[in-house]
Amino acid sequence: MFWINAQRKGYYPRNFISLISKLSLKVHNTHALISSVYQVRLKTTMTTSLPYYTSGEVIKGFGRGSKQLGIPTANYPRDVVQKLPRDINTGVYYGWAQVENSPIYKMVMSIGWNPFYKNKEKSMETYIIHKFDEDFYGQILKIVILGYIRPEMDFKTVEELKETIWSDIRQAEKELDRPEYEQQKKYFHK
Ligand SMILES: Cc1cc2nc3c(=O)[nH]c(=O)nc-3n(C[C@H](O)[C@H](O)[C@H](O)COP(=O)(O)O)c2cc1C
Repeated sequence: MFWINAQRKGYYPRNFISLISKLSLKVHNTHALISSVYQVRLKTTMTTSLPYYTSGEVIKGFGRGSKQLGIPTANYPRDVVQKLPRDINTGVYYGWAQVENSPIYKMVMSIGWNPFYKNKEKSMETYIIHKFDEDFYGQILKIVILGYIRPEMDFKTVEELKETIWSDIRQAEKELDRPEYEQQKKYFHK
């Protein structure tokens, strides 16, 4: 309704409205809709710092990732988080990751305060899309952030949070199959 009223009153350029309408027709759930709308916003206003390469030691988070969610994440120390360019907003991103000299894996990353857990400190948490036998605290994790998925959100239940993260993982896997992302592996030197 908001969009229709805005369009009637001429608040938005016609082609932008038409793009949003097309996206709305294609999406099947609210999560995907929010994600699509934010991707449009990000692509038009906020992507100047991507691809963004960084590296740092893996430290312990609160440990809820593996225990409560079954989705273990690698946390970066504060100095790595503070170095993030200002125009990389909080939210969920995808890219490549490498632990020490391991192969380069797909990753999905959450940047922010985890509204569901109301964290007091901003974090950068990487979920590497690969089954590791051991944890890798103390090792160097290199990442390149290539694209944005959605903003951080709050949820009513831990199940909703989990489902949404799994949907992010599937989306990251698909995006990273695009041939143009292969060349971004150049950020990692063996
Ligand atoms: C892909 C991805 C998306 C996430 N999205 C959210 C989110 O929207 N809201 C939120 O509160 N936390 C989000 N998280 C963070 C999880 O809540 C976090 O990984 C969990 O609290 C474990 O953190 P811990 O290992 O520091 O305990 C996300 C994590 C990942 C890996």
